[in-house]
Amino acid sequence: MKNVTVVDHPLVQHKLSLMRRKETPTATFRQLIREISMLLGYEITRDLPMSTSRIETPITGMNAPMLTGKKLVLISILRAGNGLLEGMLDLVPSARVGHVGIYRDPDTLVAIEYYCKVPQDLDERKVIVVDPMLATANSSIAAVQRIKEFGAKDIKFVCLLAAPEGIEAFQEAHPDVPITTASIDEKLNDHGYIVPGLGDAGDRIYGTK
Ligand code: PRP
Ligand code: URA
Repeated sequence: MKNVTVVDHPLVQHKLSLMRRKETPTATFRQLIREISMLLGYEITRDLPMSTSRIETPITGMNAPMLTGKKLVLISILRAGNGLLEGMLDLVPSARVGHVGIYRDPDTLVAIEYYCKVPQDLDERKVIVVDPMLATANSSIAAVQRIKEFGAKDIKFVCLLAAPEGIEAFQEAHPDVPITTASIDEKLNDHGYIVPGLGDAGDRIYGTK
């Protein structure tokens, strides 16, 4: 699929399979999503701008590669997005962080926003939006729309699982935003859940069901 990267690294795929198992307990699920998010974060930050700085090692001086430019922005779609956010922040601790609170109405599957706080200067920064699930894409489409209203132009979206229907809808709404995912699953069921999926990501991260 165009503009979609599936991270098929064995560590990602193994951890994802453990997360999918219904008997995986909350604490393990949370640990696994943190670990996978670091691996996805590693992939998605490949194109961060670099320059060199003069440093001294204990042996000699050298021009050493360093990240350059304005700090990266990570935007979490609450609440399950925080599961991916934590590991990415371990990787890029100086990143700026924004939150867009959105939940899906369980009957209509419409995205309902209840919170939004994002860093300034979004138009000058690379922005990575994180949410483990791209199902109908109603939530991610709305979140990306919101941050575009704040000026963001250079946006990527990262998830764990994506449904083909969601990818199509997302790409129609935001053709300029590439998607990185650990898996493209088979389909959505009648309740808008990803099949085979992993269930409700928020409930599994926080043990609310
Ligand atoms: C989940 C998930 C996504 C959304 C995906 O959130 O974290 O945000 O569903 O579904 P969609 O692509 O069909 O919009 P949920 O609404 O369960 O809220 P939560 O994160 O607060 O649990
Ligand atoms: N949200 C989830 O948490 N899981 C799904 O399968 C679909 C939407």
